Amino acid sequence: MLVRVKQDWELRERDVTPERLYLNRRRFMAGSAAALALAPGMAFAAKYDDVAPSPFSTDEKLTSFDAITRYNNFYEFGTGKEDPAKYAHNLTTEPWTISVEGECHRPGIYGLDDLLANQDLEERIYRLRCVEAWSMVIPWVGFPLADWINTFEPTGNAKYVQFDTLYRPSEMRGQKRGFIDWPYQEGLRLDEAMHPLTLIAVGLYGQTMPKQNGAPIRLVVPWKYGFKSIKSIVNVRFTETQPETAWNKENPREYGFYSNVNPDVDHPRWSQKSERRIGELRRRTTLPFNGYGEQVASLYAGMDLRKNY
Ligand code: MTE
Repeated sequence: MLVRVKQDWELRERDVTPERLYLNRRRFMAGSAAALALAPGMAFAAKYDDVAPSPFSTDEKLTSFDAITRYNNFYEFGTGKEDPAKYAHNLTTEPWTISVEGECHRPGIYGLDDLLANQDLEERIYRLRCVEAWSMVIPWVGFPLADWINTFEPTGNAKYVQFDTLYRPSEMRGQKRGFIDWPYQEGLRLDEAMHPLTLIAVGLYGQTMPKQNGAPIRLVVPWKYGFKSIKSIVNVRFTETQPETAWNKENPREYGFYSNVNPDVDHPRWSQKSERRIGELRRRTTLPFNGYGEQVASLYAGMDLRKNY
């Protein structure tokens, strides 16, 4: 019989409320707690509580850990916002390998631990703006995607990079149904991917990445709508032509390849002029590029962003 011994860094649900974490994160981090047990099978190790904030960090009020980990979009586990928190614990994330393909000099199948070994992690506080007109401020932990891309040495033909999420219907119950043409795929133009704001995230709030948020690694592109930030990545593919992306394939009229946050271009079914931040009642005016215009607008100089939505 296998008896699971509770590690001393694992807290029982009754021992800690997530609220304590976001009310006084620093005190929480400094304490003995190194993990939160929110639901059976979910424990997040506080592996990254000492990473330094990046120069792009914001001092805006953070969205609560509770909201970030209980209100999710991760269709692999169902379409309800609470489905990922309920079902993602079924996902096996160790071992995890990433296949690197296409226009690069170092294609191959890499173990995640090897790939992470040489990354200097940075903590960045980003606003992840989601399509359904809500937004959050999430203290991601990650490193610039550019660091990875350089490791794989893209060839001169590489103009784009495409990512795939794991396809494993035995653990991802939503994949048994065809909401999306699985696997979930996303892509960026190479210069977008190389921008220092584009992050490979491995955690949040100083913890390893909760499964419902895309463990063990996911993309974070803070100036784009949330669906560009693909979770649980297993494939990185360098291409010469613009790659397919899940939502663009599903509904090209509603979801373009670029998907930069743009209050002047309405989604065909709703205005994108304002957003409601989770935890607030009032609506806020949505900023172009989610407030990162100064950093990224030049990537799109000369492009008609109404056509390239
Ligand atoms: N990645 C995968 N593989 N599957 C998904 O359904 N949903 C996207 C994006 N990445 C999604 C995904 C959408 S629509 C949003 S808004 C964000 O993840 C939500 O991220 P969060 O749940 O961590 O807030």
